Amino acid sequence: MKKPDQIKRIAVVGAGTMGAGIAQLSSEAGYETVLYDLMRDATVKGFESISENLRIAVEKNKISEEEKANVLSRIIVTSDFNDLVADVVIEAIVERLETKSELFQKLHH
Ligand SMILES: NC(=O)c1ccc[n+]([C@@H]2O[C@H](COP(=O)([O-])OP(=O)(O)OC[C@H]3O[C@@H](n4cnc5c(N)ncnc54)[C@H](O)[C@@H]3O)[C@@H](O)[C@H]2O)c1
Repeated sequence: MKKPDQIKRIAVVGAGTMGAGIAQLSSEAGYETVLYDLMRDATVKGFESISENLRIAVEKNKISEEEKANVLSRIIVTSDFNDLVADVVIEAIVERLETKSELFQKLHH
């Protein structure tokens, strides 16, 4: 088990509503963040929603353009399972026990 200060990279599995939100928070907290989904379209949509959230934050003067760019630059989106290399993996896939169970078995190997 890694100590908190050894955690550099966080992977989020599932790029839907929850996954994209978690990936945004992870990157905002300074972690390299991998956002993975089975569906390539979902990764693109997830990244776009993060980008849009940050655009609004800039508009409201909550963050600068530079901070927005930094947050986006720390996020890698992928639909390749082999890219799921991280110190911590957070699961945010569909609410189906069998699917979640299969995922954890695959991650374990
Ligand atoms: N949305 C909410 O408000 C909310 C609140 C609390 C808990 N949750 C829980 O969070 C989880 C995700 O919810 P959501 O609303 O983000 O769902 P969502 O449907 O928006 O996204 C789920 C994503 O998981 C992907 N996916 C499915 N199987 C996968 C697999 N094997 N590997 C990788 N990706 C896979 C789908 O392609 C989809 O993009 C669910 O378990 C849900 O119950 C959601």
